Amino acid sequence: METNSVSKLLLLVFTVLFVGSELIHCSVTYDRKAIIINGQRRILISGSIHYPRSTPEMWEDLIGKAKDGGLDVIDTYVFWNVHEPSPGNYNFEGRYDLVRFIKTVQRVGLYVHLRIGPYVCAEWNFGGFPVWLNYVPGISFRTDNGPFKAAMQGFTQKIVQMMKNEKLFQSQGGPIILSQIENEYGPESRQLGADGHAYTNWAAKMAVGLGTGVPWVMCKQDDAPDPVINTCNGFYCDYFSPNKPYKPNLWTESWSGWFTEFGGPIYQRPVQDLAFAVARFVQKGGSLFNYYMYHGGTNFGRSAGGPFITTSYDYDAPIDEYGLIREPKYGHLKDLHKAIKQCEHALVSSDPTVTSLGTYEQAHVFSSKNGACAAFLANYHSNSAARVKFNNRNYDLPPWSISILPDCRTDVFNTARVRFQTSQIQMLPSNSRLLSWETYDEDVSSLAESSKITASGLLEQISTTRDTSDYLWYITSVDISSSESFLRGRNKPSITVHSAGHAVHVFINGQFSGSAFGTSKDRSCTFNGPANLRAGTNKIALLSVAVGLPNVGFHFETWKAGITGVLLNGLDHGQKDLTWQKWSYQIGLRGEAMNLVAPNGVSSVDWEKDSLAVRSQSQLKWHKAYFNAPEGVEPLALDLSSMGKGQVWINGQSIGRYWMVYAKGSCSSCNYAGTYRPAKCQLGCGQPTQRWYHVPRSWLRPTKNLIVVFEELGGNPWKIALVKRTTHTPAN
Ligand code: GAL
Repeated sequence: METNSVSKLLLLVFTVLFVGSELIHCSVTYDRKAIIINGQRRILISGSIHYPRSTPEMWEDLIGKAKDGGLDVIDTYVFWNVHEPSPGNYNFEGRYDLVRFIKTVQRVGLYVHLRIGPYVCAEWNFGGFPVWLNYVPGISFRTDNGPFKAAMQGFTQKIVQMMKNEKLFQSQGGPIILSQIENEYGPESRQLGADGHAYTNWAAKMAVGLGTGVPWVMCKQDDAPDPVINTCNGFYCDYFSPNKPYKPNLWTESWSGWFTEFGGPIYQRPVQDLAFAVARFVQKGGSLFNYYMYHGGTNFGRSAGGPFITTSYDYDAPIDEYGLIREPKYGHLKDLHKAIKQCEHALVSSDPTVTSLGTYEQAHVFSSKNGACAAFLANYHSNSAARVKFNNRNYDLPPWSISILPDCRTDVFNTARVRFQTSQIQMLPSNSRLLSWETYDEDVSSLAESSKITASGLLEQISTTRDTSDYLWYITSVDISSSESFLRGRNKPSITVHSAGHAVHVFINGQFSGSAFGTSKDRSCTFNGPANLRAGTNKIALLSVAVGLPNVGFHFETWKAGITGVLLNGLDHGQKDLTWQKWSYQIGLRGEAMNLVAPNGVSSVDWEKDSLAVRSQSQLKWHKAYFNAPEGVEPLALDLSSMGKGQVWINGQSIGRYWMVYAKGSCSSCNYAGTYRPAKCQLGCGQPTQRWYHVPRSWLRPTKNLIVVFEELGGNPWKIALVKRTTHTPAN
């Protein structure tokens, strides 16, 4: 078929669709240049804000700031596992109120790109899949598998129907102009071969068949079948072209920074480079770009994936984790957006004429039939400035920069010339004191008696807990004869514990022996340490800890966690392998079972007044205190630098996991004046990756707020402080 007739056919498919039994006229289509809304080709500037990563009380402000920053579209994934925590039981309340979020975007006056997935990656627990899905008989994720496709279709249909019921698609007068099915499936599909290809085609057909009246995209999926548009994700996308000449060039993830992992550095992306990448994409004819993330937010509760993704999902985004504007990123991008919008008519009306202005310099000129002209002048040299002549005028271009001339004469913006100062962030003490700490020791000694699960051998952790808790106890006992020579000698036996991930704490006869931790590079870990054994029966209790389920990787649903082997070394007969003996299990902590974290569960145990003088030696501790809400309106955070590793709750709501593990590795500086221009650079080595934890104001009442901390490694709760975050941007 001729290109032209294919695009006409596509237009027809999109123009008249049946939604239910109703014949509707679509108002969103596309052609080779752009997404077309109500007959107009548009340059669309988009930003990702994920609704569960902030609170409904924050949404309007965040979206308003996005609008002020020059955005047209808010992009969000849909997070299946929070919406369907068990099969057929749905939750669309509070932070999960998707309809309210979309209606907020609509009220503020922006469009929505709804990335349904339902696989989303996103550094989100299990990539957005509910853990129960993995236990549907015969299932295999993201391939040509009947049970998986049925479940995926069911959820996708449910979301689409919900949107239709609320008239949220643009074809119904709502804000949703675009939807995504799957996420970065291309590499996966290639690995799977025929099954991957069949699944891709099925997913596209299934989505299109839902008759939303707005186009679908598949990101990072070169073979996305018509009429689905394949789109680009990356730090740069100027090399990208869609798979058919009649599809527009769209960039679904322009990475504004990067996520952090416990034990890793903090990443930053210089705004000059981000603006350069965006301008370079637009000068090539790109017509939609989306900042991933525009506001990253917080992985509250146990929603962080990974493993080891931090609770903060700040992402070095233009709006920071707490909802405050980050300069110079926000302001410089706003300037960029204004300059691009001044060129919109010329950009959508023609293809660029590219001329060379020197070895490293080029002009991209867009001119429309009615006389509009816009030019992008680029200098690709990474450390030399250039003076170029364009239309008989001289223009100075800093290294690695693009100037935008909306009338082909006036240089209104250059990607490297930033007129905003860096915001100065302060974490200031609040007037709110966390006093009268009380503690409760998590029981380690009577575990085996209360255990309801036993097995010969070591069970895989996630299939045992089904992720109802991060914690799984592995408990066994071993008899030591009084004739063992170590009982009289100096050389003590040792214990080796192999774990597939992600961390383990070892207890022998109720005494803490030590811990081992995986890292983001290697989830597995091995503990080797002294085994303080005595004659008679010895109890071995291993607390295996998950730190978020994987969200990316080939068939990550099959990856294992938990203890895989236990050995005693240095006995008279050498090594004793405990792996295959009888083990008892306890899912979760006793404090979790008693709901100690909630205002109505907190009194189910006798808490002890905590003081340094009478502090018990126990390793695993619950701490609680009460505090009044600090005055003011500034965002709040807990400074947990005095603590080790665990989780924290306020008024029963989980703030998330914390861990004061120090960032290792060599950190590159973010000095942008050098010759090397990395897409992102690393900061914060030698400090804890995450010291501060966002406490949403709306979770507090004026007085008597309950904070509960579960601590695995020791630490001093008296030094926990509630601080206020402020930013100040010095004037130029
Ligand atoms: C992409 C993915 C996103 C997110 C991002 C990294 O590949 O599509 O969901 O995981 O990487 O932040």
